[in-house]
Amino acid sequence: MLEDRFSIVVGDITQSRAEAIVNAANTTLLGGSGVDGAIHAAAGPGLLEECRTLGGCETGHAKLTGGYRLPSRYVLHTPGPIWRGGTAGEDALLAGSYLSSLRLAAEYGAKTVAFPSISTGVYHFPLERAARTATETILAFLREHPDMEITMACFDEPTKAAYERALAEYGAA
Ligand code: APR
Repeated sequence: MLEDRFSIVVGDITQSRAEAIVNAANTTLLGGSGVDGAIHAAAGPGLLEECRTLGGCETGHAKLTGGYRLPSRYVLHTPGPIWRGGTAGEDALLAGSYLSSLRLAAEYGAKTVAFPSISTGVYHFPLERAARTATETILAFLREHPDMEITMACFDEPTKAAYERALAEYGAA
C-alpha cells in the first residue's frame, strides 16, 4: 500500500536512520536556526565546508552533500518559500522543494528519505496548507518510485496531526 511507504512521526530529524535527510535551508546554504541549525550542529563543520562549495541554491530547488557525523549518508538542502500571503507562487515553490529533493535522492540511489516540515517554521507557511502540498507531492512521487520510502519527521504533535490529516485526505485518493 502506498501509505505503508509514507510514515509520519514525531522526532528529531538529526537522529533519523534514513539514507538521506532533507534540510529546510535558506538560499545561501550557509546554515541558520531551526532544523538547519540542528542539522549543521549534528553533522559538524565538514557540512558547512562542503556547503560553501555549492554557491547557494534557488528556492524550490535542492542540492546534495554528504552527511558527515549524521547517521544519514546524504543531506539534501532545499530552501522552501517564505510565506508572502499565498499569491506569490508559494505552493508551487514548496512542491518544488519536495520534488527536487526526492529526484536528487533517487538520482543518488537513496531508497529512504526523511523530511522536516519545510517552510512551516521561520518561513511562516501555513501548516495545513503546507502539509497538503507536501503530502500530495510525496504520494505522487511514491506512486512512480515503488522502491522508495519517505518519513515526515515532525518536531511536535500539532505538525504530525496536520500531516496525518493531509494523508487521510490524499492517501485515499
Ligand atoms: N528535527 C525535525 N524538525 C525540526 C527540527 C529537528 N531537529 N528543528 C526544527 N524542526 C521543525 C520546525 O519545528 C518546523 O516544523 O522544522 C520545521 C521547519 O522550521 P524551520 O527550521 O524554521 O524552517 P523553515 O520554516 O523552512 O525556515 C527556514 O530558517 O533556520 C532557518 O536557515 C533557515 O533561513 C532558513 C529558515
